[in-house]
This record gives sequence, structure tokens and C-alpha cells, in this order.
Amino acid sequence: MEFRVSLAHWADIAERVRPLRLAVFVVEQGVPAHLEMDDRDRHCLHALAEDASGAVIGTGRLLPQDAGVGRVGRMAVAPDWRGKGVGAAMLDALLAAARARGDLLIELHAQLHAAPFYDRAGFARVGDVYEEAGIPHITMRRALTA
Ligand SMILES: CC(C)(COP(=O)(O)OP(=O)(O)OC[C@H]1O[C@@H](n2cnc3c(N)ncnc32)[C@H](O)[C@@H]1OP(=O)(O)O)[C@@H](O)C(=O)NCCC(=O)NCCS
Repeated sequence: MEFRVSLAHWADIAERVRPLRLAVFVVEQGVPAHLEMDDRDRHCLHALAEDASGAVIGTGRLLPQDAGVGRVGRMAVAPDWRGKGVGAAMLDALLAAARARGDLLIELHAQLHAAPFYDRAGFARVGDVYEEAGIPHITMRRALTA
């Protein structure tokens, strides 16, 4: 199945991406809406995945650089598209952007069930499991090489 991934600013994609974010995090996973929609999106670089018709099938974000550390979050793929490489392609695009701006390390708070996805992408688990928004999470890190 065909899809494409691009990078975008929130102002240009917000209306198209919000429904997927809400469907996955709020409806599917039960995250409170006010925690899901924080005020950081407009400061982030976003990955956008679209199917052949241009429908949004995936989203994720890279937070502003902080002392050489890039933070990735809000990775979500539409249920019908999971397991087809969309998440990996979006993560690759976000990591390439982080590397290009000089980040040395990527850190993220992975939902525990998604940790194997980040394992596959070369991330290492750091420390103990903790709860965020009622969901078990684990911190994961990956060094970026030039
Ligand atoms: C986690 C998520 C973004 C992964 O996206 P995806 O498009 O399904 O992942 P991909 O198809 O690109 O998978 C890449 C690799 O990770 C593996 N993988 C993906 N999800 C996995 C999971 N939950 N458990 C084990 N392995 C997984 C795939 O098998 C694949 O392995 P391969 O390289 O050997 O083929 C997606 O499942 C999702 O949106 N989940 C709901 C929202 C969510 O929990 N987001 C994560 C918040 S931290």
C-alpha cells in the first residue's frame, strides 16, 4: 500500500491532523483531551503521513531542540495502517530533521506497549516504568550520529 511522509508546521496541518490525534489518543487510549492537546504543537516540527488519496494516516512531532536533545512524541498511525512501516517512516523523517539541526540525542517517553516499536528503531530503554496520563510509560533514548 502506498503512502508518503512529509514534514510540516502545525499551522499548515492542524485541522487535518487533529481528528487522528483525538481518535487514537483520546478515544482509543482514553487520554484526557486537555492532556492530549497541549500548547506545544505550534512549536514543534510535525511528521505527516498520507495515503494515495491524501488522507492523513499518521502523525508525530519533534519538540524544539533543548541543549542537543530532541524529543519525539505523539506518534500515531491510523489503525488500518499499523504494521505497514508508516510509523517507522515518520520516525526516520523526524530523526533526520533532528540530526540536521544538530541534535546529539533523541529522548522520548514511550507507552510501554509501543516500546518494541522504538526498540526496532535503535532506542534503548532507560530506568523504570512510570505512569503518564494513566498509561505505563518508559523513557527511551537513541544517540544520533552525524
Ligand atoms: C506505535 C505506532 C506508532 C507504530 O506505528 P506502525 O506504523 O504500526 O509501526 P511500523 O509498521 O512502522 O513498525 C516498525 C517496526 O516496529 C514493529 N512494531 C510496531 N509496533 C509494534 C508493537 N506494538 N509491538 C511490537 N513491534 C511493533 C513492527 O513490527 C516493525 O518491525 P520490523 O522493522 O521488524 O518490520 C502505532 O502502532 C500506533 O499508532 N499505535 C497507537 C498510538 C501509540 O501507542 N503511539 C505510541 C505512543 S508512545
